[in-house]
Amino acid sequence: MGFPTYRPRRMRQDGNLRGMMRETTVDPGDLVMPFFVREGKGVKRAVASMPGIFQLSIDNLLKEVKRAQALGIPAILLFGIPDRKDESGSQAYAADGIVQRAVEAVKARVKGITVITDVCLCEFTSTGQCGVLKKQGRAIVDNDATLELLARAALSHAQAGADMVAPSAMMDGQVKAIRAALDRESYGDVPIMAYSAKYASGFYGPFRDAAESAPRTGDRKSYQMDPANSREALREIALDIKEGADIVMVKPALAYLDIIRRGREEFNAPFAAYNVSGEYSMVKAAARAGWIDEGRVVREILTGIKRAGADIIITYHAMEVAGKLGGK
Ligand code: PBG
Repeated sequence: MGFPTYRPRRMRQDGNLRGMMRETTVDPGDLVMPFFVREGKGVKRAVASMPGIFQLSIDNLLKEVKRAQALGIPAILLFGIPDRKDESGSQAYAADGIVQRAVEAVKARVKGITVITDVCLCEFTSTGQCGVLKKQGRAIVDNDATLELLARAALSHAQAGADMVAPSAMMDGQVKAIRAALDRESYGDVPIMAYSAKYASGFYGPFRDAAESAPRTGDRKSYQMDPANSREALREIALDIKEGADIVMVKPALAYLDIIRRGREEFNAPFAAYNVSGEYSMVKAAARAGWIDEGRVVREILTGIKRAGADIIITYHAMEVAGKLGGK
């Protein structure tokens, strides 16, 4: 059937027809809202490079999490900013660390929200690297020594009541190490959302301000993926699924929509995409300059990520956009 028998415009004439034709929808139930928690009381410190995002003390975090839940957002992702850092990132797995106490508080005070914790050392190490460094020689992150610490961190989160853990350090074998530690201590019901294809990306810049986690020296290219690679991403995803990941993630989202699509076609696993800080801040900057219609662009971005194949989208836009989804 071709023109003039078939006229694609026929089905675009009004909102009802467009709605009936719509292949992809995003609703608040697809979104995860990230939060940054720090010590103190009454703290609500703006993150300069991420307008609308704050570092919150636990009391203020509780208020925001309740608000997120009221907006229909099912889950939050927690990042912690500790008061002290050391070489082994010990606050990442301290029972009374900031993340552990925040999890306890949210689980006690906000019923029914799913609390996911980021499992990494970079916010907690004095080096700002995602693991511990090898004792001798160059500043290389020691993969296997780090595994043990990541497993301890994940276990401490589960013990505090976390509903799900999300390892983001890009250490080989991290999912396996965490699954084993959780199962050993009878946390077999706690799922793992693995940052499987996490790229060494310039789009994390604003996050490193928000989480105060920029590496003191060097970069993360020896463990995060090269942005040029897609076949390698499929190998990473396959490994994580084999090691026990319940959800696999691609991060960032926008420059990596092809990875989401290829992964979705190759693997029968739930996929998450992380719409990262730099992606958020670019939209905010353009909107502030009056160059784009922010709400419309955000909905278009989230629809694109979902259309590429993501089931779950982690996004700093979650709360501001939740009330405006499902529209025509
Ligand atoms: C590591 C981690 C990072 C992000 C999430 N988990 C930062 C990094 O690898 O530098 C980035 C998220 C974002 O940019 O929004 N703990």
